[in-house]
Amino acid sequence: MRVDGRAYRSIWLDPDGWSVRIIDQSRLPHRFEIVRLTSVADAADAIAGMQVRGAPLIGATAAYGLALGLRERPDDGGLDDAVARLRATRPTAVNLQWALERVGGTVRHLPPEERVQAAYREAVLIADEDVEQNRAIGEHGLALIREAAQRRDGAPVRVLTHCNAGWLATVDVGTATAPLYLAHREGIPLHVWVGETRPRNQGGALTAWELGHEGIPHTVIVDNAGGHVMQRGEVDLCIVGTDRTTGAGDVANKIGTYLKALAAHDLGIPFYVASPSSSIDWTLDSGDDIPIEERAAREVSHLSGATESGDLATVQVTAPGSPVGNPAFDVTPARLITGLITERGVAPSTRAGLARLFPDLADPSSEGSVAPSPVSVPG
Ligand code: MRU
Repeated sequence: MRVDGRAYRSIWLDPDGWSVRIIDQSRLPHRFEIVRLTSVADAADAIAGMQVRGAPLIGATAAYGLALGLRERPDDGGLDDAVARLRATRPTAVNLQWALERVGGTVRHLPPEERVQAAYREAVLIADEDVEQNRAIGEHGLALIREAAQRRDGAPVRVLTHCNAGWLATVDVGTATAPLYLAHREGIPLHVWVGETRPRNQGGALTAWELGHEGIPHTVIVDNAGGHVMQRGEVDLCIVGTDRTTGAGDVANKIGTYLKALAAHDLGIPFYVASPSSSIDWTLDSGDDIPIEERAAREVSHLSGATESGDLATVQVTAPGSPVGNPAFDVTPARLITGLITERGVAPSTRAGLARLFPDLADPSSEGSVAPSPVSVPG
């Protein structure tokens, strides 16, 4: 996507051919800074410290991080240490272990001297595939927005989203935002409600920044206002992202997603989850089994932002000494989800629905089975 007229991805290989560049998302929206990663420790710290975040980007960074780690130590011990170090950074987004298994599985059978180049090749493939998958998710989601636009008869389609499932959370294009970018380019009038997403404000800071750069009309609301705007009839559909979708369609996403899904369900508002196959954990049936990351208390007790003079500052907002809890994700049960927008079409949030689109992944023994036609609607 473009920032001030220049095209960026959220992660890319430096022209030196080995180091990795990222946009430091912990500084946005007030500072646009690019950081260079040169070691597995840099990559692990960038993920754990949320300079990069969002499930697909965490996966891509882990893939590049493994290549950096193998550059430092390509033997089996080096490979195992790098995988362990990266895997320990964030527990909920399944893309992390998916990417590590994919790159690790590709290089493990190779002699050490061939591992580095093979790991970079796989990391580049993962990044490029992510962009293509998001474009396809965009096309399938666009069909839903076109339908809503017909019902709106020229008035803006009102979409509510949560957290940041935009291009910053992926390698490019985004998942939940991909349909919005396509609809906007097609001239469909839109208005996006952006939940601020406490404690780290990925909605108010990152999604709003992205939409602003694309010229898409939007309004940031506090998370607690989501139910209210839906109740007032000001939301046509919700689209959010996922950190881990079980094979049966439960979805772990940023804390607060569940409450929005409950409100949408109560009010009969369609609630879609943009879910690339890299975020589906086929080994799980129940969202109860998804590990939920508990993050530092300081993210809740303190807020960071820019002062009126433009300096960055952090202030405490909770009563000093009060204990703080910070679960970073919650689980939205499949029954509250209207459909999962995948790169192969929109699936009902059921194991059978997902398996129909992904027979090769749901049951790897059926490899060679033909993927169904690109667009299918929830039934
Ligand atoms: O803690 P974060 O910022 O990594 O959480 C991000 C989300 O919850 C996103 O909605 C999810 O990763 C999907 S990103 C396409």
